[in-house]
Amino acid sequence: MKSITRRTFGGGMFGVLVATGLRPTSLQAQTPQDLIAREGVLQLAPANYPETQVWGYSGAVPGPTIRLPQGGRMTRRFVNELPQPGTIHWHGIRIDNAMDGVPGLTQDVVEPGETFLYDFVLPDAGTYWYHPHNRSYEQMARGLSGALIVEEADGGPEVDSDEVLLLDDWRLTEDAQIAGGFGNMHDWAHAGRIGNWITVNGTGDWRTTVQRHSRHRLRLVNTANARIFSLEAQGLEGWLIALDGMPLDAPQSLGRLTLAPAQRADIIVDVTASVGEEALLVNFERDGGYAIASFDVTAVARSERLDAPSPLPPNPVPQLGPLQTARTAKLLMEGGAMGRMDGAMMGGQMMGMREMAGAGKVWAFNGMADMPDAPLVAANRGETVRIDITNDTAWPHAMHLHGHHFRQIADDGTAGALRDTLLMDRGETAQIAFVADNPGDWLLHCHMLEHSAGGMMTWLRVV
Ligand code: C2O
Ligand code: CU
Repeated sequence: MKSITRRTFGGGMFGVLVATGLRPTSLQAQTPQDLIAREGVLQLAPANYPETQVWGYSGAVPGPTIRLPQGGRMTRRFVNELPQPGTIHWHGIRIDNAMDGVPGLTQDVVEPGETFLYDFVLPDAGTYWYHPHNRSYEQMARGLSGALIVEEADGGPEVDSDEVLLLDDWRLTEDAQIAGGFGNMHDWAHAGRIGNWITVNGTGDWRTTVQRHSRHRLRLVNTANARIFSLEAQGLEGWLIALDGMPLDAPQSLGRLTLAPAQRADIIVDVTASVGEEALLVNFERDGGYAIASFDVTAVARSERLDAPSPLPPNPVPQLGPLQTARTAKLLMEGGAMGRMDGAMMGGQMMGMREMAGAGKVWAFNGMADMPDAPLVAANRGETVRIDITNDTAWPHAMHLHGHHFRQIADDGTAGALRDTLLMDRGETAQIAFVADNPGDWLLHCHMLEHSAGGMMTWLRVV
């Protein structure tokens, strides 16, 4: 098939190619697929409740899972069919800055009825996700998010299945609709919008059938606005192999797994429950646990468990330089209910907490409740940057850095796993370090979405 023929026949050629069973690959490559944000309905609550009206990519919750090879390109035309402006952020991708999806920092919002072409390279294999970055405290509470899976070049570890599990938390009304009150300052000053209904991949009853001694890769993603999951596997034994997309140096045996908003964990589990039993993923709250995913064991895959898996191949993230000479910054997190902050700078003025709350801000970074004009750090490309973070609030926070993965540095100087989102407990201090190798302006914010909208947001510049 010569390309001249295609041009001559245009659209009509599609039919011919499909009819002869050939895939029009070069045409597909030239016409990016659409990723349409629009309204949809689904049975989110149990069957005796009405369907829920949601906002979703393709109208679905979760949105379509995008799977692409490492080193490949992600090309999608975002079409905004929602009644609000939006953008898409590709969480955890060490992305070209212009594609990062942050309104006012890396692009303009995409108005209703408009489009934006996202087109970027995927440098790292792993589990990533996409979500709006405009009014995300509302748009994500209404359902907008999806998984972006970047496949390892070697095909990944040997497993019987590879499942993406997006964990979400919804605040539903009695007739199973998304509750309003997105700007509720009580939520904003406390733990954020905590819901009353947990789903996995858009259902409250996620289940699958498995076989004893079968092996599964589970890619867990916390897409909730604010809820922290605390997970345990029962009838499944295995290893934690990656965090926030990035492979661990060595698989760690799986115990209790804390997953803060936006965090991911890749685990490999073998089914150890017997035929007729049910293996479970259980979420623990203060007052007990409940299953969020069930695996019915219906047969035996093999008589023994497989050998322990090897580590995933590392991603090409640069090694940290010496921390003594690193460029450093301090970040003080303040505010919220039961904190000791009495005011912060807003609109160039010092404001008291009550006035701030009236203007929709209840938190501050380094005494500023607005997105600051100046970056927290301006680094030269390739420099190692160290940020000392103090959580001087009465709440946990999930601190997310765009465009880079960092390591937490322990008091004795040892560097932890690569992450893009760090859960910090109330009163905790943490030191993070990373190589600022990705030029552009990058957000650093709390991923409890009510907290970032309420003032927990700053940015870094890499030149
Ligand atoms: Cu997933 Cu700035 O966020
Ligand atoms: Cu927070």
